[in-house]
Amino acid sequence: MSTLPHQVIEGSERRWAYVVAGVVGFMFAVIIFSSLHLVAQPPSNVETIDATRLHLAGEFVEENLGTEGLPDGSVIVRVIAQQYSFVPACIVVPANAPVVFRVTSPDVVHGFLITDTNVNSMVVPGFIAEVRTRFNKPRDHLMPCHEYCSVGHEGMWAHVRVVDRQEYTKSYGNQQRASCAG
Ligand code: CUA
Repeated sequence: MSTLPHQVIEGSERRWAYVVAGVVGFMFAVIIFSSLHLVAQPPSNVETIDATRLHLAGEFVEENLGTEGLPDGSVIVRVIAQQYSFVPACIVVPANAPVVFRVTSPDVVHGFLITDTNVNSMVVPGFIAEVRTRFNKPRDHLMPCHEYCSVGHEGMWAHVRVVDRQEYTKSYGNQQRASCAG
């Protein structure tokens, strides 16, 4: 068996060490750049709630779920993520209006993600995940659970229907809550 001279081995290892150090340094730079310059940070809302009483009283009782229009044209969407569904399963929101999502879980950790947007949060029981966003144009978005939450995880998804702002006002303007479910 022939062996390489140890200078060759050392040189090769040193090159790999430089490559790895370069990759780690680059990743640090990306993290620092994106958190300072692009303000891409995890949602930092820390608001607690009693996960065992969501259905009994307070903000997340059944009749409060879904889209609530506010007088200024913005909406608040309250959602419960539970094994293995989102309530409501279809969320309707107006385009070009401020949207606040408030999401919580009564059981385990779920994921809240709206495809083709930057909306992405964990939903931890005992906490309210709050995400503020705005949709530019009318279209449907899938909203899958992206945290493994046990056997029914892959069937846990909902969707978000963004409708034209005038159409939204026409259809739901005189209602307190809007929903496209059912
Ligand atoms: Cu809920 Cu995965």
